Amino acid sequence: VKKIALLSGGGDCPGLNAVIRTITKIAIEKYNWEVIGFVYGYRGLYNNNYVELTVDKVEDIYKEGGTILYSSNKDNLFDYLVDDGNGGKVRKDVSDVGVENLKKDGVDVLVVLGGDGTLTSARDFSRKGVNVIGVPKTMDNDLTSTDLTYGFISAMSVGTEFIDRLQTTAKSHHRVICCELMGREAGWISLYAGLAGNAGVVLIPEIPFTIENIAKAVKKRDEAGLPYTVIAVAEGAKYADGTKSIGKIVEDSPDPIRYSGLAAKVADDLEKVIPNHEVRSVNPGHIIRGGDIDAYDRILSIRFGNKACAMIDEGLFGNVVSLKGGNMEYTSLEEVIGDAKFGKQKLVDPNGDLVQAAKAMGV
Ligand code: F6P
Repeated sequence: VKKIALLSGGGDCPGLNAVIRTITKIAIEKYNWEVIGFVYGYRGLYNNNYVELTVDKVEDIYKEGGTILYSSNKDNLFDYLVDDGNGGKVRKDVSDVGVENLKKDGVDVLVVLGGDGTLTSARDFSRKGVNVIGVPKTMDNDLTSTDLTYGFISAMSVGTEFIDRLQTTAKSHHRVICCELMGREAGWISLYAGLAGNAGVVLIPEIPFTIENIAKAVKKRDEAGLPYTVIAVAEGAKYADGTKSIGKIVEDSPDPIRYSGLAAKVADDLEKVIPNHEVRSVNPGHIIRGGDIDAYDRILSIRFGNKACAMIDEGLFGNVVSLKGGNMEYTSLEEVIGDAKFGKQKLVDPNGDLVQAAKAMGV
């Protein structure tokens, strides 16, 4: 191996920069490889738009959220929107252009930092013979192949701080406050942040809810001398009767509706059945993804980056770095993604110990 290329795809996630830094430093200082980074994810690979990564460029990004390589969400080169020559657009498989660019640039290994969508393309490039290493990225922590992903702890900790802060104001006014947290398909962030922040109710996509049950929980707290309730609402939580909230179409998602605004809808519906409480809602949205990463994610990013370099050195291509039972291991892209269009997802088990613990705590 003489030269490696990095790219980050999909939504940014705390820890991406720390992984970019780790791989760049170890690649250059330990292995003497050249490192480039395609910018804007696969779009950069298509346009052969890259930057050279050097130790001085990455030194200070050890705790910085986001990605210095930027990212793009919908640029799948196997199904890419190109000009049709008649002023319109057409979808085409342009992955050969990416493969050619890698050859032209003398890149031996492509290191892909991404979640299920981005890793699905990584699997497809691997099937085309490209030496690919995947470094899983999701602040939702919903990838099956790894116990934990960098970014989750930072995002969840910020979510916890929101819940914490809402407690004192909710308590002062005897209010119910619904706090919407990210998690379109998986409820990990809301469940962790809700439990950590002592939310009275947690709504997650895996366990559909009814307004009546939330009202009952609020009433129970009232009767226990706790006339205020903070509710952690995962953005993808679902009404048991199928009621939809204000949604937004997200075409490249397995669930094409994004329920941004769910906390506001729940608050409206709830206020009608608990007239003795004022109900408010907040949606921190992307705030939980931004800012500095916490110490644990810095370490995790170093471990993931170091393992990626070791895998390159050993020629373990077509694999994704995984944390399993405390050890850094790897899993094949074929296993991580399978034949699914969007990869497999690790959802909260409604009968798992975390949900049981929450229930035992009265949540
Ligand atoms: O997958 C990460 C995530 O932050 C989800 O929790 C959230 O639903 C989604 O991305 C938001 O996407 P976007 O940044 O495209 O609005």
